[in-house]
Amino acid sequence: MNATTPTLLYQHLADDVASMIASGTLRPGDKLPSLREMRTRRQVSLTTVTEAFRVLEDRGLIEARPQSGFYVRRRPPLPLPAQSSPSPEPSLVSVNALLWRYMRIAHAGTFGCAVPAAELFPGAQLQKLTSEALRRHSHLLSDYGKPAGLDSLRRQIARRALGWGGRLAVDDIIVTNGCIEALSLCLRAVAQAGDVVAIESPTYFGVLQLLESHGVKALEIPTHPVSGVSLEALELATRHGQVKACLLTPNFSNPLGSLMPEANKRALVEMLAERNIPLIEDDIYGEFHFGRERPLPAKAFDTCGNVLYCSSFTKMISPGLRVGWVCGGRYQAKLEVLKYINSFTTPALMQQVVAQFLESGFDRHIRRLRRSGGAGN
Ligand SMILES: Cc1ncc(COP(=O)(O)O)c(C=O)c1O
Repeated sequence: MNATTPTLLYQHLADDVASMIASGTLRPGDKLPSLREMRTRRQVSLTTVTEAFRVLEDRGLIEARPQSGFYVRRRPPLPLPAQSSPSPEPSLVSVNALLWRYMRIAHAGTFGCAVPAAELFPGAQLQKLTSEALRRHSHLLSDYGKPAGLDSLRRQIARRALGWGGRLAVDDIIVTNGCIEALSLCLRAVAQAGDVVAIESPTYFGVLQLLESHGVKALEIPTHPVSGVSLEALELATRHGQVKACLLTPNFSNPLGSLMPEANKRALVEMLAERNIPLIEDDIYGEFHFGRERPLPAKAFDTCGNVLYCSSFTKMISPGLRVGWVCGGRYQAKLEVLKYINSFTTPALMQQVVAQFLESGFDRHIRRLRRSGGAGN
């Protein structure tokens, strides 16, 4: 690639603007030239300028103001935390009592849950679809339905998986009560009390709660705020057969927001398959990308069913509907039984509403959600 290729042009432009900000030529609050002005001044395409501004936004140097343009950010981005260095010993988890005390404080329920602001959810459309579902599919209230979930919803989920290269059939998917039930079923399928499960450090508090309630020991793996879990540390930790499973969020982990590079995901999946250690992947934030391409989940590199893929519509459509799913790979049959034992099924009315929304307004909605920058709580 040489310096005139479009890929580098946008980087050059982003670097030039970044150095003007660093030198104080552009100061906090200053307005940048519009995309079109910049295009004319620099004699580059609009795509190059748009991409350069996106890079600057991602670096936290500029911000878009609706109907106004791009401005130099007033607050410099916070420095990144260092890669964590947790204890190399596995230990039982004990967070539930503390979290429960905290949850009882009024309005504290969503702390750490990274839920988009309520006005960003498609409330009016969901209301309409719920009334419609009640009118047209009243049997959904008088039936238990299949434990694995409505075929119409599972078909939609399978179709959408094509977007990240997933070739899933309807029966590869089990609908769950949120992502948390998917993770819980997976833990039960692959580990028993006393087993060691490797996790990111830090990780989502709900994962710690699950580990505690399953009596599983956590082995915290050093995790970098940008590139995610350290493959070297995980390689060492999984060498001697002590680790029974891994539970990771390769795309936009909570709370760090780290994104594992694609090469690391591929290497991770290959290493764990070789060592016969199942990977429970939490991809609940996979659709929340700022770049053009959706980052691939680790599941995209799975050739032997060793990755148990979990996600939900909680952050994308509505937390209250409680609709999630799991693709259990080689554990699928076991997961179906566990789902049946755990909660029998997921409310079919809610599944129908999500299936309808996926068919009608979802694509536009998720683009808007991405543009808005997402998390409000
Ligand atoms: C990383 C992660 N996984 C799972 C969940 C739980 O998702 P759900 O509400 O769909 O059960 C959350 C919620 O905050 C989360 O941040």
